[in-house]
Amino acid sequence: MYSYEELKHFVEHCSRCPLSATRNKSVMGRGNFHSSVMFIAEAPGYQEDRDGIPFTGPSGKIFDELLASVGMGRDEIYLTNVVKCHPPRNRDPEPDEQEACIPYLKYETLLIRPKVIVCLGRIAAQRIIRPDFRITREHGQFLYRKNTWLTAVYHPSAILRDDTKMAETKEDFKAIREKLCTERIF
Ligand code: URA
Repeated sequence: MYSYEELKHFVEHCSRCPLSATRNKSVMGRGNFHSSVMFIAEAPGYQEDRDGIPFTGPSGKIFDELLASVGMGRDEIYLTNVVKCHPPRNRDPEPDEQEACIPYLKYETLLIRPKVIVCLGRIAAQRIIRPDFRITREHGQFLYRKNTWLTAVYHPSAILRDDTKMAETKEDFKAIREKLCTERIF
């Protein structure tokens, strides 16, 4: 088992896929190591590639608004991405890039041992929940697997493109908050 610092070091020096050649900074997950909830997004954007921190760009503002809508903040959660390096022109990470990066996510999950995992967007949901997961139809639903509740919500960038998704995503965040409370884990 690796410590957070060891994992961060591996991610910073990783060259397991071609994204390592074009990244500025890799972006290791961060947050509260004792949190019961882990949010998993897709891959760092342009701003995150500059900062080396998840969700510091426009999507991050939406994410913070969603958290705040249920009285939560980043200090209470752990936040990471399926892929730790920025794909050029914000394209979707390729399956082989996801495959190369997934061991880091597995180790992060072992370290945090979340009771609830929230996938932010289709890429994370299809990687973590089911390859044919349909975010439009299935967001907000919970599934219990290996002692962990799994759910998915729209990616904050989808809300930036279509703000009518904000209201239903706030409802999904309420359900996440309720799940944490009813399970007495928040
Ligand atoms: N989009 C993501 O999926 N993750 C980030 O960290 C930033 C933007």
